[in-house]
This record gives sequence, structure tokens and C-alpha cells, in this order.
Amino acid sequence: MPKVGLLTGGGDSSAINAAIEAATIALEQYGFQVTGFKNGWDGLVHNQSIPLKSEEIANIRQLPGTYLGTSRFNPIRQGKIEEILNNLSDFAGLVVIGGDDTLSVAAELAKSGLPVVGIPQTIDNDVWGTERCLGFETAVTRIVEAIAELVSTNVSHQKDMLVEVMGRDSGWLAVYGAMLSGAHEFLIPEEPFSLENLKERIEQLRTKNQPAMIIVAEGVDLPNRKPAEIQDSFGNQAFAGVSFQLAEELAEAGLSKPRTVVLSYLQRGGKPAVSDELLALRMGRKAAELIHRSQGGVMVALKQNQLTSIPLADVIGRRQRVPQEIIDFARGLLVMR
Ligand code: F6P
Repeated sequence: MPKVGLLTGGGDSSAINAAIEAATIALEQYGFQVTGFKNGWDGLVHNQSIPLKSEEIANIRQLPGTYLGTSRFNPIRQGKIEEILNNLSDFAGLVVIGGDDTLSVAAELAKSGLPVVGIPQTIDNDVWGTERCLGFETAVTRIVEAIAELVSTNVSHQKDMLVEVMGRDSGWLAVYGAMLSGAHEFLIPEEPFSLENLKERIEQLRTKNQPAMIIVAEGVDLPNRKPAEIQDSFGNQAFAGVSFQLAEELAEAGLSKPRTVVLSYLQRGGKPAVSDELLALRMGRKAAELIHRSQGGVMVALKQNQLTSIPLADVIGRRQRVPQEIIDFARGLLVMR
């Protein structure tokens, strides 16, 4: 029976297991034997694998995290691509679930001719070429739930709050989180930051006896932002914590110091949103179908709610930022609050 490998890399989210389940079941139906590599690229380099069998994973789709484990190990930087290709020498294909870093390794491997198929998965929703990444809608749900629980204290104490969300260099989580909760404002890397404008907005809310609920994307571009450390072997910076600096700056600008809440990994877990789970099931099956047709070097992508595939080479080195149209739409809603 021809073998197909499957791995998950980068930050986890709640829709990965549904993609693993769907891809495994479909691959078996196409007549493949499925091998899951543990802990991302690290497990593939060190040949740490487990058999994936549909009867064992047929109900993992609502579990958060990843059944296979993950890591941010970068085999390109570690010079391990040859070892990976050796370990895959008797494989008919590889399915890779992850964000832009993980998919950049998939693109590199695809150059060898091995049928590699990517599935975009990151709560940041910033993989180029797809309208959605797995995990995003669940993370937005977690943000909306958290704000719903914070707002009672925010209102009871008339306390302004900064709620910091993830997203690295993109503001998808902040814009959607703000739009779908009771928040009044979002600060995102896609827009220049102005302390003056923020102060004005908070003062305007005060005139309505309304304490501010502000969503801060961790990648917001504060002009005098303290330098972040390099966090992983893909060269990503650790952005978390910027909202503490912003709270100080607002206090120095004469406002009462807002309370800061960093949602951190609370955004990554919990039961997947139904839309995410369904998309993961669809993407998993689509990836299997592409492997079956030996169409490698591609990523499954959502376009106008249809699944298609695009070359991995086109995805790499680009980032899907929040379009101005969506930013304007969201702000139009928030301004009325
Ligand atoms: O890439 C997904 C992400 O959740 C980012 O939003 C965040 O900056 C980063 O991962 C955090 O990384 P770590 O898991 O290493 O803390």
C-alpha cells in the first residue's frame, strides 16, 4: 500500500484535528496508508511517527490542539532538508497543516518533486491566497466570549480596558474580535497608530459615561515600541505584552490608566467553531484528493467559499493583511457604540 505522511507545525488551533481526521479517512479511501509525524518538522527529521488509522481518529475533530503535536522547528535553517527527503523516500506524498512558516518548508520540499499539499492553519488568518485559515473563526469566538465576560467589570467599575489579542503582523483577530463583541475600538498593524486619536476616542466615550473596551493587536505599531526578542528559529519576534506599554502611555497622556488583559493562549483552545470544523473537514478531504491525483506543490485555498488549490511557491513570502474595505466596515459598526 503506498504511504502518505501528515504533519502539523507552528502554533496550534482548534480546527487541526478535524483536518487530520478528514484527510486520513479520505486518504485511506483512496488506498493509502497514512503515517503521522510527531511534533512538526522535528518529528519528520528524527523519523518519529505513528500510524494514523481512521478507526482510531474517527472522532478527534472536536478536540482542540493537535493530535500529532507541533513545534516551530525550522529544518531549512538547521540544514535538515536532505534528511527529510531520505525519510520520505518511500512515500507517495505529504500533507502539511500549518501557517506560513510551516508551509515555507513544504514549498521547499515540493521542489524535489514529492507531492506535497499544504492546508492553511493559523489563528492569525494571514496565509496569502486563501480567504480563511483553519483556527481563525474559533479564536474569534474565544475573543468574543472573553469580552462578554469582561464587560460587566468594565461597566460596573467604569474602568477602561485594553484587551490584547494575537495575530503577529496582521490585525484579523483584532478587527473581527472588535466587530463581533461590544468593543469600541481596535488597534492593528495595518494602520498607523495615533495616541492622540485613541485618547480622543476614549474621552468621547467618557462623555457618554461609557468606559472604553479597546482591542489591541499584539503587532500594533507603537512608535516607541520596546524592541521584541527573536522567539523562534523562523525569526519571529515575541510581540506579546505591548498593551502594558500602551496603558502606561495613556496614563502619561493624562487618562486614568486602563486595565490590561492579554488573552494569549485562551484564543487557541476550546471546542472548534462549527464553521471552522466544517472548513477543516472540507480542506482535509481536498488535500487527500490532490495527493490522490498527484497534484503536489500546492496549498488548499478557500476562494468565494469554494475550495481550490494554488501553488505553494506563490504563497511563500507574502502575507494576507486585513483589506481596507473590511477595516472600514468594522469601524463603521464600532463608531456607533
Ligand atoms: O502564529 C500564531 C501565533 O498564535 C501568533 O498569533 C503569536 O504571535 C504566536 O503564535 C505566539 O507564539 P508561541 O506559540 O510561540 O507563543
